[in-house]
Amino acid sequence: MEELRIPGPTPCPPEVLQAMTKQMINHRGEEFQGMLKDVTGKLKQLFQTKNDLYILTGSGTGGLEAVIVNSLSPGDKVLSVSIGVFGERFATIAQRFGAEVVPLRFEWGKAADADEVRKALQADPEIKAVLVTHNETSTGVTNDLGAISPVVKEFNKLLLVDAISSLGSIDLPVDEWQCDVVVTGSQKGWMVPPGLAMVSISREGWQANAKAKMPRFYWDFAQAKNYLERGQTPWTPAVSVVFALYVSLDMLLKEGLQNIIARHARVGAAAREGIKSLGLSLFAEEGYASNTVTAASASNGLDTKRMLKILREEHRIVLGGGQQKLDGKIFRIGHLGLVTEDDIGKVISALKIALPQAGFGGN
Ligand SMILES: Cc1ncc(COP(=O)(O)O)c(C=O)c1O
Repeated sequence: MEELRIPGPTPCPPEVLQAMTKQMINHRGEEFQGMLKDVTGKLKQLFQTKNDLYILTGSGTGGLEAVIVNSLSPGDKVLSVSIGVFGERFATIAQRFGAEVVPLRFEWGKAADADEVRKALQADPEIKAVLVTHNETSTGVTNDLGAISPVVKEFNKLLLVDAISSLGSIDLPVDEWQCDVVVTGSQKGWMVPPGLAMVSISREGWQANAKAKMPRFYWDFAQAKNYLERGQTPWTPAVSVVFALYVSLDMLLKEGLQNIIARHARVGAAAREGIKSLGLSLFAEEGYASNTVTAASASNGLDTKRMLKILREEHRIVLGGGQQKLDGKIFRIGHLGLVTEDDIGKVISALKIALPQAGFGGN
């Protein structure tokens, strides 16, 4: 079996995979109603929120689209705080649905600066909402959302957060940080296969929703609310992935959120130390490196594509490459969900052998 060390999909525990072999049940019947209620309540604990929360069937990108179309109207001005591929995607969705996007871009590898967010909001009082990626999976950088959110709220703006690769792994107290609409995806730290997006929505989020005129049908939060009151989802959900989540949430809550966060911090530190011990450097700015994904810069003659192939074929370890303009410039180790320090140790040992074979140190 390959060791999957990409930043999602992540490996699933055997109990979770076993749950997915369960026979189908009526998604409008009592058993599923109980399950949906249970899973929703447990997710709220891990989101650290009392806000409404919905389980949508779709990938993370579907969840991002849901956040946009439920919160905005065509012509609304939004500030897009972007530090990589996924920040750009969030902005593109808003633009495609008619929002006027004001970009606030930071160099890839760096985190967003809360003071720059303040300046941008001061400069343009018409901005209605701020889009932020909590953990930028493409660069291995975690934004300081705890510093950005008070700035957004100082100006009374709506805070829309992509927490797809952070929630349930990196601390994100949704209520304390007044995040209005927050989305995550099942295939990340939740230890569940792809297929579900989970979103929370605050009171201010609902107020925006009531006025939002962007077209929506499948993603309509009002429908999700209406149906959840009956213990259902509006459309047929990915029932097997809900079975999986039912089991994984029990495991996560047994471990406890603070322990999960601490474990990710330890595993992240092990990945960063390991990368440095090999003579490589981190792509992320010092102090903002992510605890769920580590990006290493290609240097010293390293051919990342050759290296990824050697790791895959000779060590059965799968790492991620760079996306878009980072293709060939970085590689990424995913360490969210079911990953231990020992697993990272194996990756570093394999890299020690594969790096010189892939040209590292050769020029
Ligand atoms: C931060 C972030 N946003 C959005 C996405 C897109 O999610 P999906 O691929 O499930 O559509 C991802 C997936 O890697 C992500 O890490």
